[in-house]
Amino acid sequence: MNDTPFIIQLPKIIDKRGNLSFFEYPKQLPFKIARTYWIYDVPGGEIRGSHAFKEQQEFIIALSGSFDVVLHDGEKEEKFSLNRSYYGLYVPKMYWRRLENFSTNSLALIVSDKHYNADDYIRDYEEFKRLRDEK
Ligand code: TYD
Repeated sequence: MNDTPFIIQLPKIIDKRGNLSFFEYPKQLPFKIARTYWIYDVPGGEIRGSHAFKEQQEFIIALSGSFDVVLHDGEKEEKFSLNRSYYGLYVPKMYWRRLENFSTNSLALIVSDKHYNADDYIRDYEEFKRLRDEK
């Protein structure tokens, strides 16, 4: 039913004046961007996320520093460590996701194919499992 998560390697234009990377739909990104947000100033040991989305897909990049994205499909858990600004993680809909292990001054950039909608969140893990099993 679902896509699976995967790492997307982005172009890296190496330049002695400083490197440059980018992404655009459809070349690097599998969806059109509706929204961009970022997570920063995360105190040591904090965890963000811990929910799933019914419809929304995301692409997550560690623009600065590092953190782990832990994804659960209802059966198994997979951890992706992000620590480069030229690759990111594609997260399909209906994955329970948690962002953790943030380094000092890390910056998580997240682009989504949907506008913000509180009703798209599944915040209860048992409900997530149930909806997953229905598919
Ligand atoms: P939330 O997605 O729960 O954060 P995280 O998953 O990283 O722990 O969002 C936290 C708050 O910010 C919540 O009250 C909703 C609000 N918010 C918006 O208003 N717009 C947005 O695009 C996002 C991502 C969050």
